[in-house]
Order: sequence, then C-alpha cells, then structure tokens
Amino acid sequence: NPRKQKGGTPGDPAPPFAFVFDIDGVLLHVSKPIPGAAESLQFLKDHNIPFILLTNGGGKPEADRVRDLTEKLGVTLTTDNFVQSHTPFRQLVDGPDGFQDKTILVTGSDPERCRGIALDYGFKTVLTPADIYTADPTIFPFAPPTPQPNRPLPLPLATPSTPASSLPSHLKIDAIFVFDDPRDWALDTQLIMDLLQSHAGHLGTYSPLNADPSLPNFGWQNDGQPPLYLSNSDLVWSAAYPLPRFGQGAFHAALAGVWRRLTGGRALRRRVLGKPHTETYAFAERVLADHRRDLLGEGEGVGRLESVYMVGDNPASDVAGANRYVSGEGTEWVSVLVETGVWREGRVGAAELTGEKRPARVVGDVKAAVRAALEREG
Ligand code: G3P
Ligand code: MG
Repeated sequence: NPRKQKGGTPGDPAPPFAFVFDIDGVLLHVSKPIPGAAESLQFLKDHNIPFILLTNGGGKPEADRVRDLTEKLGVTLTTDNFVQSHTPFRQLVDGPDGFQDKTILVTGSDPERCRGIALDYGFKTVLTPADIYTADPTIFPFAPPTPQPNRPLPLPLATPSTPASSLPSHLKIDAIFVFDDPRDWALDTQLIMDLLQSHAGHLGTYSPLNADPSLPNFGWQNDGQPPLYLSNSDLVWSAAYPLPRFGQGAFHAALAGVWRRLTGGRALRRRVLGKPHTETYAFAERVLADHRRDLLGEGEGVGRLESVYMVGDNPASDVAGANRYVSGEGTEWVSVLVETGVWREGRVGAAELTGEKRPARVVGDVKAAVRAALEREG
C-alpha cells in the first residue's frame, strides 16, 4: 500500500511534521465548531498528515468524548489520537508504584462519572466524596450543593469510627485524583485537606508530625499522606460568557491558599498533569508517535518526526507547554496561538506574550494555523 509506506498523496514523501490541536477555543467554542476546524481536520486526514487532539478538558470517558466530537465536527475521530487532561492517569495504575490495588479518592465535575473512568483505566477501589459524606455526614457540616447518591461505602469493612458513622475505622486513602473541574469545592476541599493532614491517609486522624517539632520527621505531608494528583492547571478557559471563566486551576489555587493558611505558609505539594506540564507533552508525543506509525507505517520512506505544530488558544497552557517541552526524540515543538479562544490581542487581562508564553506564530484561527504550517513545510 503506497499510502501506508509514503503518507500524503500517493507519490509524496511521508510528512516529517504533524499537528497537535487543542479543543476548546481552537476546534470548538461552547460546543459549536469554530469555522474552518472541521475542514482543516478533514484536509489533514485526506492527506495522511498525522494529528492528535490534546485537551485539558475531561470528566467523560475518552470514547464518549470522541463520539461527541465526531458528531459535532462531522469528521471521524478515534481514541487513538485523543488525549484528555486525565488520560495520563492510566499510567498510574500498574507498576510497583501503581495504585491498582490501593484505595483512591476521585473527584471532578461528576464524581460518579469520574469513578467510572477510573475503574475503566484499571483502578480497582475507587471512592468519591459522596461515598464518604454518605457514610458520615458529620464530616461536612453543611448541605452539599449537589444531590449525593445514597449508597453504602463500597469497601469491605470494619468497625464504624463512631456509632453514628458507617465509615470504616480510619479508612485509608492511598491517592487522591482530581479528574476535571470539581463543582463541590467546599466538600472536596474539606476532604482533601483532611487527608493531607492525616496520618498516612487514614481519614479522621491527624498526623503528629504536623504539630510536634520535637519529632524527627516533623513536617507537613511527611507522614505517608496520599499524593494529590491534579489534571488541568488552566486558571481560565473559553466558555459562553464574553470573559474567560475559571477552570480547574482556580480550584488548585483555592486548595493551595487554604493549605497555606492551615500550615502557616507552606506550599502544597501536588502533582499536576495536563498542559502545560512536561509529563503530558511526553505522553502526547508517545500517542502521536504510535498514531503516526499506524497511519504511515514504518517503511523506509517514513523518516523521523521533525516538527510538531501545537495549535492552541491559551498562552499559559498550550503555548507555554509546547515551548517548555524538550522532546526526547529531538522533535521541534512549534507553538501556534489562535485568536478564537482565551487570548485576544488587546483584551483587558489578556496574557502578555512574553517568556514561555510567547508563541512562534499568532494567527486568526485553526485554518490559518494549518495553512501557515504547511507553507513553512513547503
Ligand atoms: O475545562 C477545559 C478547559 O480548561 C480547556 O480545554 O481543550 O482548551 O484544553 P482545552
Ligand atoms: Mg483551549
């Protein structure tokens, strides 16, 4: 199959470049296709030019999100070239440091759906804030803002910690995962702060190391507390309102602020994935390499991937990530900023395009971004 070997139109050499597209503000705006987006993707598909979608969005299984996008854009997409903010959490299931056989707490816009995604990734024991609240409503002395499912705590279990509570005595949580933008900030903040101050993740305990300077390991987050994994540090994103709206990054800032107050000024230790973080770009590069191999084959005519065009609307996320990333494969990541999303020239509060937020190119929209890249590639 000459197309498999060569890529592009038959007879053309395999393209030594590829694209990575952000979704919100580049391909879609408030769930509607941005003009030229579908056409650009279809063009790349027709010419066997590889691309992946890399979004800081999440909260739905990858397959569902890809189905939605395929419908909205009218271009057939697959999960093979699709990465959401929490997709790299898959890597934390297996291996010696994996959490497959541990108990994790997940939250996000719809914690029940996040639990489904986590189980699908391979985590086995997955709790939500609602499980904990239902088992012991005294843990959060205010009515939670969204209806909580009434279900027993899905754990093999133990003695209730108080007669009024069905929480296992000192239930142990081994890791905390924020899948997408939480809605119940107050409940989630309370539970996360409890766990980060606990002894080794046992809910309802308070680590002596937080308080007693005479102990040898005195210090915060120094007593086997669960790691906190966050998936998207976007402070704002492009939604229906004329000004950018808060994203998961605003929740991170709230957590860090409360933590500072609790600890007399300490920085909150957490691991953040998603754009602009390097781990996510490395993950995306692997997904892109696999996809490129599937699309173009591995024949002699298929050389190495020399350039990747990261097309995004957020200087602090898409652009900074691409500029910061140093490819292990020697691939050049070129940042291209469009004006159909978060960033607009001259908008009050628009990020200054300096330092790592400075894109290689600024263009009007995704179609112009593709055109500019194709021109550069000759
Ligand atoms: O919540 C989603 C938002 O933060 C950004 O999505 O596609 O622009 O990375 P995207
Ligand atoms: Mg965006």
